[in-house]
Amino acid sequence: MPINVSAVQKALSPNPFCLIATTKPDGDTNLMALSWWTFVSNQPATIAVCLSKKGFSGELIKNTSEFTLSVVGDELKSAAFSCGTCTGRKVNKAKEFGIELVNSLIVKTKIVKALKVALECKVINSVDVNDHIMFIAEIVEAHINPEVSHLYAFNGYANLSTI
Ligand SMILES: Cc1cc2nc3c(=O)[nH]c(=O)nc-3n(C[C@H](O)[C@H](O)[C@H](O)COP(=O)(O)O)c2cc1C
Repeated sequence: MPINVSAVQKALSPNPFCLIATTKPDGDTNLMALSWWTFVSNQPATIAVCLSKKGFSGELIKNTSEFTLSVVGDELKSAAFSCGTCTGRKVNKAKEFGIELVNSLIVKTKIVKALKVALECKVINSVDVNDHIMFIAEIVEAHINPEVSHLYAFNGYANLSTI
């Protein structure tokens, strides 16, 4: 019997949620919704993110070896979810959904202004994991805004809300 992984993921909700920003060849920013990330080392601070091989963002990370991860506030509830419903190959998501971006301090890729936490990341390795690629990346800068209450993914990944 195949494992019903979506039932397991629903049972474990709420799940983490963030926006991954990447830089396109023309210098514009692409955004995607992502739940599958985790810390994997403290020193140096390192995270892993898992991106579907079908998406545009993985291609962009392969090209530039960097990305930013922004955990965002309630004000982006609808806009951030929309970033998980279409591809940056066709849509300029930041513009279309009204998500304001600001410059990072170290990497070229921007971060989301409405941040609770934003991590500037440089890729150090990648692992082919069947239908996804796991990028392992060092955090080279971190931004925190303790005032913001941030979004999680509920009912698996069906909707976003704060806790
Ligand atoms: C709540 C939520 C969580 C998601 N988590 C992931 C994830 O962890 N990994 C992934 O590859 N796609 C995830 N997605 C789907 C991508 O965001 C979606 O395929 C997106 O269209 C990819 O955009 P891109 O082609 O511009 O990279 C998630 C979508 C939503 C709505």
